[in-house]
Amino acid sequence: MSEQKNGTEPKKAFVIGFPISHSKSPIIHNHWLTSKQLSGKYEKISVDPHDLKNFITGFAQDGYLGGNITIPHKETVLEHVDVIHPTAKRLKAANTLWIEDGKIHADNTDGYGFLANIDQNKPNWDQNDPIKKALILGAGGASRPIIDGLLERGFQIAVTNRTKARSDAIVDLFNDLGFEGQVYAIDWKERSNVLSDRSLLVNTTALGMTGQPELEIDLKTLSEDALVTDIVYSPLKTDLLLQAEKQGNPIVDGLGMLLHQAVPGFERWFGSRPEVTDHLRKLVLSA
Ligand code: ATR
Repeated sequence: MSEQKNGTEPKKAFVIGFPISHSKSPIIHNHWLTSKQLSGKYEKISVDPHDLKNFITGFAQDGYLGGNITIPHKETVLEHVDVIHPTAKRLKAANTLWIEDGKIHADNTDGYGFLANIDQNKPNWDQNDPIKKALILGAGGASRPIIDGLLERGFQIAVTNRTKARSDAIVDLFNDLGFEGQVYAIDWKERSNVLSDRSLLVNTTALGMTGQPELEIDLKTLSEDALVTDIVYSPLKTDLLLQAEKQGNPIVDGLGMLLHQAVPGFERWFGSRPEVTDHLRKLVLSA
């Protein structure tokens, strides 16, 4: 249980991680604060895992209304909060904290961000999809909220990962959550051979990111309506997206996921729902 400081200080929120220097979240939130002419601050704070408990139990006294949580704290933070909302509970990981009625609340907005990005770029994409079958490349931390969001939208999901044990663990997780049979694992070497009945392909691995190896996949059997999206946004158009675009498939890049996952937190802390605009995209890309 925590209490907020009274007074006339500007509203403050944070992003914590270890390391944290790479985070683009301050650019996003401070742009929204400025464009809405709100007096607030959003700060990047490096928190060593050993100091996490002290930070979480003390941030309200330090005048913060909440903040974002990133690697390596997304899972361990749940040990130190008062109320865990259903999405964070299912995923055992949170990225957004806020104070409500004197309690620290935690939720996970990554799946929301993933879906909101596609919804903004391809309106009604899932309502117009009669197939609703996805192939998810990767079984790291980024894949879980995406799978969770897609299950809520009625998708059946094949997941494939270089390390099979991790995709099997994801299948077990969603089986335990009651989605038996709706998530299944496929061998990594089969990834190009299971595309013909998929209406959505998502890369959640680091492959294709600047400085990482390329993702090797052959899209020629993918149906022409299938949507292809990547969570990598550096480069903005990965080789996967270029290959998909070249053969006429609709594509959505990963930058919008980063921007949209930030929306619910900003609204909770600063009381105004922000918009994801082209201007913001350019600002983040040029930073
Ligand atoms: P996070 O949990 O933040 O998503 P991660 O655990 O490093 O990060 O996961 C990154 C994803 O990229 C994983 O699916 C990883 O596959 P493994 O589980 O087999 O490690 C995938 N990945 C990274 N480098 C890869 C490579 N060279 N080939 C295939 N997959 C790779």
